[in-house]
Amino acid sequence: MKKTLLLFTAFITLYSCKKDKVTGVITEKAMVVSARKEASKIGSDILQKGGNAFDAMVATELALAVSYPYAGNIGGGGFMVYRKNSGEIGALDYREKAPLAAHKNMYLDSLGNVIENKSTLGAMAVGIPGTVAGVFATHEKFGSLPIQEILKPIIALAKRGLIVTQKQEDRIKKYQHYFLEVNKDPILFDKPWKKGDTIKYPALAATLERIAINGRDEFYKGETAKRLVAFMQDNGGIITEEDLAKYEAKWRTPVTFTYDDLRIISMSPPASGGICLAQIMNGIEPFDLDKYGHNSTKAMQVITEAERRAYADRSFYLGDPDFVEIPIKTLISKEYTKNRMADFSFDKATPSTDVSHGSITMFESDETTHYSIVDQFGNAISATTTINGAYGSKLYCSDLGFFLNNEMDDFSSKPGIPNMFGLVGAEANKIEPEKRMLSSMTPTIVEKNGNLYMVVGTPGGSTIITSVLQTILNVHEFDMGMQEAVNQPRFHHQWLPDVIKMEPTGFDKKVKNKLRQLGYELDETNSPIIGKVDAILMLPNGKLEGGADPRGDDTAVGF
Ligand code: GLY
Repeated sequence: MKKTLLLFTAFITLYSCKKDKVTGVITEKAMVVSARKEASKIGSDILQKGGNAFDAMVATELALAVSYPYAGNIGGGGFMVYRKNSGEIGALDYREKAPLAAHKNMYLDSLGNVIENKSTLGAMAVGIPGTVAGVFATHEKFGSLPIQEILKPIIALAKRGLIVTQKQEDRIKKYQHYFLEVNKDPILFDKPWKKGDTIKYPALAATLERIAINGRDEFYKGETAKRLVAFMQDNGGIITEEDLAKYEAKWRTPVTFTYDDLRIISMSPPASGGICLAQIMNGIEPFDLDKYGHNSTKAMQVITEAERRAYADRSFYLGDPDFVEIPIKTLISKEYTKNRMADFSFDKATPSTDVSHGSITMFESDETTHYSIVDQFGNAISATTTINGAYGSKLYCSDLGFFLNNEMDDFSSKPGIPNMFGLVGAEANKIEPEKRMLSSMTPTIVEKNGNLYMVVGTPGGSTIITSVLQTILNVHEFDMGMQEAVNQPRFHHQWLPDVIKMEPTGFDKKVKNKLRQLGYELDETNSPIIGKVDAILMLPNGKLEGGADPRGDDTAVGF
């Protein structure tokens, strides 16, 4: 929609409508929204003590490692996009890396077939964790409170323990058989934990205490590093002390692009999120989505067709920018997308077989977690962190108190195989020593008229990008408040498989029938939940509205 053309009066009307639609937590100055109330509160408390958004990032990230072991971590990695109150923007890549001993065919058998579960379960699935390096890099560059002060409430939380929620009870039960399969000895999560029980984390508290005293190097070169390497090797892994010692988080330039009067700031490679989001939004921009209506047939068609084309490019071109050349400028240019959308028609679906590029269907786990922060100074942080699968590789280091990621599965285990069009793809994301695996994480910040407007992100594997997209569109095109935008049913198309994945409730039956008539295949059974978006919207009166996803235990806390 060409909102730049709207008259000032319409602008005012838009905002007065929006006021009625506020349904989320409202605060005056600052807010943290994350997957657990305890983590949001620790982040918010750090802000209330006078810390800034970067201090709160350290606090929230590590508090999630304690309170949300499903995805929060010190055994994984993530991405963070920031916008300072001065308008300065930047991004941090604390993604895991492949170990030095990793190689292209490490998950293939002698016949060249992928060995089942080798890249997802146990020690061979683990990439070099980046989270501790990430929080220290953030703190070193922008933090204002002493690290010990930030870690104190987190260590206390780990010692005190957390009350199990119903959703947590369900999650632990669901994955318990893997814990037994992967771990040699019993682990904390083998017990039949029930809602209302308290789980304490003394081993993680001790690890965090050592990190608080000795700093970043405790994890990468100190006693913790040595104990972690011994554990990995005892479990058949290949991570060495040299791997840990060589790990560095990297500052990156975020991907930026415009959509109507918005400026979107999102994560750059090795996350595919920013580029893919730009391609989809460029494809949608010329259409009057707001006139078609929210989740109407035409709106869903336009979004689906733009997604199909963007995802077809994704696995072909994208990988670790330190290893592969990515034509970012072209991919996110409006001209490129215009050509990609040229064959789109409202009369029928474009079959994915008619859309070239891309090669290998990416099946990504959807168990990640996101948090959004705005501080009382106007600084904003959008961070997404993961151990990839639910409880990562399921390998739990009882000695140190955390799960290890299975991020190696985000590489292409078998690149170089021509797809059905004869295209050889995913070379860009093949396994190489010290390379970062491609991610879908899309921590995003939106500016409107040059001011901070929205902070948004979500877990959801390949559906991360499209969930972030729909949340932004719900606010911008369909005039919703933050919580309302987060609550809406979501759908997703990723080129292959050629289906629209939809949450099973909330879509109009007539719209679904019409889409089927037009040749779209709908899948409402495989995704009971698409994304868990945690977001913050700056209201016209200067207050903040949180959007904490009711699909999880997510909570907004602030003041
Ligand atoms: N592991 C999920 C992602 O990075 O996209």
